[in-house]
Amino acid sequence: MNGAVLLFLGLGLLEAEGRCFLNRTQKHCVCYNLSEESVGSIIQCFPASVVEFRGGELERYIAFPITDLDTSTTEMLGSLVIRKIIFGDLLVPEILLARVLRFFSYTQVQELAFESCVFEGRGNWDEMADQNLPILSLHFHNVTSAPLTGREQDLSSLSSWLETLQELAVTGSHVTSLPCGIGRVFRALRSLDMAQNSLGDESLMPTFCKGAFPQLQVLSLQRNNLTSYHSVCESMQLLPELQHLDLSQNKFMADPSSSCQFPVSLQILNLSNTGLDEVLTPLPPHLEVLDLSCNHLHAVDISLSSLKKLFLSQNVLQAAPSIRNYPMLDTLHLDNNLITELPGDEVKLLGHLQDVAAAGNPYNCSCSGAGGLQALAGTGHLGQGWPRDYVCHSPPRYQGRLVKEVPVSVLQCNSAAVIAPLCIALASLGVAGAICLVRSRPGLIRPCHRV
Ligand SMILES: *[C@@H]1O[C@H](CO)[C@@H](O)[C@H](O)[C@H]1NC(C)=O
Ligand SMILES: *[C@@H]1O[C@H](CO)[C@@H](O)[C@H](O)[C@H]1NC(C)=O
Ligand SMILES: *[C@@H]1O[C@H](CO)[C@@H](O)[C@H](O)[C@H]1NC(C)=O
Ligand SMILES: *[C@@H]1O[C@H](CO)[C@@H](O)[C@H](O)[C@H]1NC(C)=O
Ligand SMILES: *[C@@H]1O[C@H](CO)[C@@H](O)[C@H](O)[C@H]1NC(C)=O
Repeated sequence: MNGAVLLFLGLGLLEAEGRCFLNRTQKHCVCYNLSEESVGSIIQCFPASVVEFRGGELERYIAFPITDLDTSTTEMLGSLVIRKIIFGDLLVPEILLARVLRFFSYTQVQELAFESCVFEGRGNWDEMADQNLPILSLHFHNVTSAPLTGREQDLSSLSSWLETLQELAVTGSHVTSLPCGIGRVFRALRSLDMAQNSLGDESLMPTFCKGAFPQLQVLSLQRNNLTSYHSVCESMQLLPELQHLDLSQNKFMADPSSSCQFPVSLQILNLSNTGLDEVLTPLPPHLEVLDLSCNHLHAVDISLSSLKKLFLSQNVLQAAPSIRNYPMLDTLHLDNNLITELPGDEVKLLGHLQDVAAAGNPYNCSCSGAGGLQALAGTGHLGQGWPRDYVCHSPPRYQGRLVKEVPVSVLQCNSAAVIAPLCIALASLGVAGAICLVRSRPGLIRPCHRV
């Protein structure tokens, strides 16, 4: 017990009146402004899997005597179920952190997060040399610290731990570059999240230098200061395992077309909200998920044979892309574009499509337009928003009405959307199958049931 209290004391959290609150259902415990008097209430947190410390100032405890722990204490630390510790709104002297970090080797804490913290000064990390910590995931959000450049000694002291780290996030912290040497230490890192920083085009090459992050699979560069898709592509060349790249919320300029190829391992690419007027090329050849939502795209005429999910909401498309270009597609989102008609027949031809969303478009509810959508809705694959957000803009007599309410009579609408299923039904009954196939070809549109 003493040891744990000491450990958490060492990590500070000591301010006027403070207390810990445990939510048993969530196994989440939050401690506010713990003080020396109230530190005993940490006991409440022992059944929690997530413990959060908010507020306080640790500066006063820099000289706090932290001795080695006895066996019963280390055993007790090992029996705690705490998996994640969050430090928030704290001033953290690095010296103190360096002194207490090694105690985590007795715990089963896998995730450590610092939110809105200021790291002060420089710690001496020598004691961490050859220490292995169970922490696999390290998160920093909105933190400030001394610059990372010139910290080779610190990194090498921490290397036996950092070499095993799997997830690192440094978000919202005004980072403009990561020195090459840092990436070389993180040899097992799978996921790197650098969202909401100030990384520019020219800072990527040095960050992803030769030997940096050799096992990286997931990389987020969301909301940085990137403008050149070509530079991004060039700097990804040395990440052979990269599967998921998030470039959303940058502002890409029109690049002269480039021959740079992304790693073939790349499967998920997020280009949402990147100011695009046209689709950037080249795209990774084996892409399975492509998010191009929230841009200014007028047309999408690319072919990707492995693509499963295509997100095109919030653009200015006047027509849905031809689904024939994506034989594996199961998800297609087209909400809030300028599409007047969905080709219901084409959609039905593709067996893989399971999730189509196309709300908020100015639909033409002539009978073929409404019929196509109604047929699609009938398959049960139209996602959220049907029927409420599917509204007719034309012709005048249906303006403002729901697409669902437009009467579509089989006799009136010579649409392939209606004919195709009828033909299939008839053909399966063995009735005039051949005639149906001929008659439903474009230019020969005539309702099958007259046969
Ligand atoms: C614990 O968390 C759940 C889920 O957020 C919430 O519904 C519940 O009210 C919380 N319990 C307490 C005691 O705060
Ligand atoms: C970021 O952290 C600072 C303290 O370093 C805090 O004052 C500020 O409110 C935080 N900002 C956000 C958006 O959380
Ligand atoms: C972002 O990039 C532009 C042009 O490269 C530069 O002028 C600007 O200072 C950068 N902003 C930040 C916050 O780094
Ligand atoms: C792409 O990024 C945006 C945030 O910028 C996010 O809302 C969206 O879910 C991401 N898309 C995918 C497919 O993960
Ligand atoms: C709506 O569709 C009908 C039939 O295809 C067509 O004649 C008409 O011009 C279209 N109206 C608009 C506003 O696109």
